[in-house]
Amino acid sequence: MKYYEMHEIVYRRLKNENVLSWDKSKTFEEMWSHSTNVYLEKFLTKRGIAFPNLKVLDLGTGTGTSALFAAKNGSQSVGIEISSSAIEIAKENAKKLGLSVEFTVGDVLELDLKKKFDVVIDSTILHCLVGSKDRSRFYNIVRRHLGSNSHLLVNTMIASGDMSSRFPKEYFFFQDEILWSLGINEISERKVIDGKSYFPHRTLLSEEKQLEEFEKHGFEIVEMEQRSENDGAYDFVALLKVRE
Ligand SMILES: C[S@@+](CC[C@H](N)C(=O)[O-])C[C@H]1O[C@@H](n2cnc3c(N)ncnc32)[C@H](O)[C@@H]1O
Repeated sequence: MKYYEMHEIVYRRLKNENVLSWDKSKTFEEMWSHSTNVYLEKFLTKRGIAFPNLKVLDLGTGTGTSALFAAKNGSQSVGIEISSSAIEIAKENAKKLGLSVEFTVGDVLELDLKKKFDVVIDSTILHCLVGSKDRSRFYNIVRRHLGSNSHLLVNTMIASGDMSSRFPKEYFFFQDEILWSLGINEISERKVIDGKSYFPHRTLLSEEKQLEEFEKHGFEIVEMEQRSENDGAYDFVALLKVRE
């Protein structure tokens, strides 16, 4: 199992908890208030872009948190997700809401829909991708699906200071921008530290490094917001375009 397939195990548990999303929203109102949705709406409004008829691609859509939000507002949404359990919940969510969204199980790092979108959404998938090879691949795939006037919305976690209260040392190990976690033995990529076996769980760049990474992959920020610092790691939300 590849490290980023671990989410399937979590979604199987979530299915039994009868929640609507990764963040355990219990109601659709709660799901709509996900920070990705709040900032997507805020940034698009600021730039005079309306949702109706926008073509939106939500990468790592999970249970459809942002694909459904865009569809509810009149966009044509596509959601891609590696976890089949998450896609099952996404389809149930769409049915309950009476919305039509194209949800497909697939690996974002292999994606080629041969179609351009007005907005591509990263609602916290980028920080699930570990290592420069997978992350470069992600940016190339995003670019493949963007037109010249399109935008990428990024909502990603940033490393800052001592993160031990958010990521307790009994379970996590943070080294060279990678958050290593204990457990999930099915994952083949491992690192043994002090006799304990960890898998690569998240990339947490400093804000400076994150900005450099956008620049290196040909993106420029057109809107950005730093959400409040939370025990050292904080969330960074930005709207980007491909640099001309
Ligand atoms: C933190 S969750 C966020 C889910 C959803 N976007 C949301 O905001 O509720 C990250 C999601 O990305 C998915 N994911 C990670 N790597 C992926 C890949 N290579 N291809 C497709 N989905 C992936 C995970 O399975 C997970 O559902």
